[in-house]
Amino acid sequence: MNFTHGNKVVLVGTGAVGSSYAYALMNQGICDELVLIDLNEEKAKGDVMDLDHGIVYAPSAMNITFGTYADCQDAAIVVICAGAAQKPGETRLDLVSKNVKIFESIVGSIMESGFNGIFLVATNPVDILAYATWKISGLPKERVIGSGTVLDSARFRYLLGEEFDTAPTSVHGYIIGEHGDSQLPVWSLANISGTPIAQKLTEERKEEISIQVRDAAYKIIESKGATYYGIAMGLARITRAILRNENVVLPVGALLEGENGHSDVYIGIPSVINRTGIKKVVELTLNQKEQEKLANSVRTLRDIQAEIWT
Ligand SMILES: NC(=O)c1ccc[n+]([C@@H]2O[C@H](COP(=O)([O-])OP(=O)(O)OC[C@H]3O[C@@H](n4cnc5c(N)ncnc54)[C@H](O)[C@@H]3O)[C@@H](O)[C@H]2O)c1
Repeated sequence: MNFTHGNKVVLVGTGAVGSSYAYALMNQGICDELVLIDLNEEKAKGDVMDLDHGIVYAPSAMNITFGTYADCQDAAIVVICAGAAQKPGETRLDLVSKNVKIFESIVGSIMESGFNGIFLVATNPVDILAYATWKISGLPKERVIGSGTVLDSARFRYLLGEEFDTAPTSVHGYIIGEHGDSQLPVWSLANISGTPIAQKLTEERKEEISIQVRDAAYKIIESKGATYYGIAMGLARITRAILRNENVVLPVGALLEGENGHSDVYIGIPSVINRTGIKKVVELTLNQKEQEKLANSVRTLRDIQAEIWT
């Protein structure tokens, strides 16, 4: 296997999402070493101090420091949460050109350090920026992971858990496609202990739940300006799956190369995650309607890619 040893994580971008992720890593004792980088150095240094004071009550020791891109050289994972955040009323795709430019500089600097680990990208529009990271870095596709629909799938499972008065951890279901408006719930495969859920809900109720999942970010942003705890837990979960070589299936942003009939696009899809990154994209058996919706989501993203990379 070709990857960097050790479990050092470098976090680029210590805003609301990044600092919540750092806090989740510390609380769960996921890595031994965490380096924080941000354009706003004072903010990152403040976060380091604040987090360091929590270490005494953390489940395990963790060395948390302020750093520079040179620190990426021996990192196992670089997590990027840097960039302009989504403003009220702004779609994730509106952010695209702003953040692709920021990524050219960030990913370029990381690669100059000699980094040879795994990228985990959370900045929106995350599917486009995971694709940008893969292109700019030149790393193999399995070592560039987007957060994809990890958060949307958690929202879906949470709502279904409420609906059926069952723990969301016992609800199995995926949101796939764009982390954005063209995403789709895979109702045909959603289940609780192997029992399909779709037949137990009316078409109207399914539509309501799909909309609630799709529009959750808009609602939270309206209420408090940004969303960060949910994604931070999702990123921590992916980090743990990588560092502990878990071979667990998580809905992440992966490059499709023929899976479900699509190629050359990063999109949210269940994938097997281990120490090599994305070991394998899971090929889902979708019904006709779901296939059409996935094709539409792929088209949405590829249209944006075409504008940027032609
Ligand atoms: N993938 C998901 O599911 C998901 C969920 C929520 C938010 N997000 C996205 O995460 C990103 C961060 O959101 P946030 O709320 O933390 O924003 P934020 O504004 O609080 O933080 C962004 C941070 O990036 C830093 N930054 C900007 N340009 C930089 C550069 N060139 N180099 C280094 N650091 C730089 C800023 O100084 C700031 O600290 C946004 O793009 C947001 O849309 C993704």
